[in-house]
Amino acid sequence: TYVIAEPCIDVLDRSCVEECPVDCIYEGDRALYIHPDECVDCGACEPVCPVEAIYYEDDVPEAWSVFTADNARFFTETLPGASAPLSSPGGAAKVGRLGADTSLVAEHPRRDD
Ligand code: F3S
Ligand code: F3S
Repeated sequence: TYVIAEPCIDVLDRSCVEECPVDCIYEGDRALYIHPDECVDCGACEPVCPVEAIYYEDDVPEAWSVFTADNARFFTETLPGASAPLSSPGGAAKVGRLGADTSLVAEHPRRDD
């Protein structure tokens, strides 16, 4: 799978969403998350992110390695305000903006610029 790491937080450029052929990039509140089971590893999203937030799972920089499990956690844990985990919706467009994040992203310091 591919992973969205720290640079996406508070940027949410969304160019990646346009590129994904299987619509597996979901929007939380302050970041987007790639569904690890729905991603088909096409890699189309990676070069279009203007802040280089997207990496193949084996290439995630060490400092951001926690984001690999965190992208998965977005789908397996019950998000604040939800009644059940998202699980595998099979498409981000139909679920829309979730408006909630994993605790890793929610507790990340706000980007000032
Ligand atoms: Fe985020 Fe980059 Fe996509 S900033 S929304 S990962 S294009
Ligand atoms: Fe989509 Fe990127 Fe995976 S374009 S299929 S999330 S590699």
